[in-house]
Amino acid sequence: MKSYYFDNAATSWPKPRSVVKAMQDYFFNGGGNPGRSGHAKAVEAGRIVLETRELLAELFHIKDSSRLVLTKNATEALNIALLGFIEKGDHVVTTSMEHNSVMRPLTYLEKNDITVSVAEAGHSGKVNLNSIKKEVREDTKLIICTHASNVTGAINNIEEIGRFCKERNIRFMVDAAQTAGVLPIDVEKMHIDFMAFSGHKGLLGPQGTGGLFIRGGIALNPLSRGGTGSLSDKETQPDFLPDRFESGTLNVIGIAGLGAGAKFILKRRIPSIIEHDRGLLRLFLNEISDNKEVTIYGPSDEQQQTGVISVNIPGISPSKVGEMLDRRYGVMTRIGLHCAPRAHKTLGTFPDGTVRFSWGIFTRERDILVATRALKKIAESTTH
Ligand SMILES: Cc1ncc(COP(=O)(O)O)c(C=O)c1O
Repeated sequence: MKSYYFDNAATSWPKPRSVVKAMQDYFFNGGGNPGRSGHAKAVEAGRIVLETRELLAELFHIKDSSRLVLTKNATEALNIALLGFIEKGDHVVTTSMEHNSVMRPLTYLEKNDITVSVAEAGHSGKVNLNSIKKEVREDTKLIICTHASNVTGAINNIEEIGRFCKERNIRFMVDAAQTAGVLPIDVEKMHIDFMAFSGHKGLLGPQGTGGLFIRGGIALNPLSRGGTGSLSDKETQPDFLPDRFESGTLNVIGIAGLGAGAKFILKRRIPSIIEHDRGLLRLFLNEISDNKEVTIYGPSDEQQQTGVISVNIPGISPSKVGEMLDRRYGVMTRIGLHCAPRAHKTLGTFPDGTVRFSWGIFTRERDILVATRALKKIAESTTH
């Protein structure tokens, strides 16, 4: 049976050939430890790391690429930023659509005399600036918001929230796990102070890659300390970036792949990626919107949604639907709560969750047709 991958919001598949090639080249011909020695292999590894950093900086309009720290995923980036920035007594505002990689560190911090207020999103999963404003206090230090929901694909107006933060002198952190490589991101125009992203989703890199942008002038404690190859005579952590947050040997093979992914995205261009994703969303919605047996969650508006959609068939659990899609039709989705329980409370789909379809750059119209037909057949067979 042929299979159809609809779990790109968890991790993208397949990857461009250039990503595979970059990793192979490094594996077979590279191999040095960047920043640790002066021989050719170490220098080449250092070049690869720098090139990837600069390509990502270009994509996100980061003027100084050293402000972009490479991490193992978005979760690590969020932990570095949240645990390093928030201190005892601080007040933080977040939203009801956040992933557990934001919610769990914040819940942990709450035990430490830190107050967290949660702005409720609307029924589509979109966060309105007014609901954030309601939670802001005189002493709010940080607002953290996802760029797009990993459950409904709803896109938030990051520029508007960023402008508000700047006016109020509040630091602004963005979780761009679902949007890096998918939507335009300009850290200057959007007034972003911290931005965490995955390298293995929209950026098409391998698993084990991600990153964090940290605006200059922000004091942040590192999460881990150790060897950086720089200032080796000192037993204290360097205070300059990226070394301050990149202790230990880097995942250079992954970073080589991530660089090739970023190059691929820059060449393909974000507007054409958006057009592709929106065309598939239009098709998906057209195919199922007249089907009363399928409940659709989210904006159902191509201007306000990424290539992610959540659905349910009333009377049958999402896990059963997901299992049938997979076993009978080879359609791979993600079912359940998608590590975002609060988002499902907002949507009214807690605790069972939804069936989530998420596509990517290599998904074709005919894949969408296979998926929607399978969904309709399951809906018909279980309701008639
Ligand atoms: C919105 C959101 N934030 C954070 C993450 C965590 O990303 P990673 O798996 O790269 O740590 C995810 C992953 O699905 C996500 O969807």
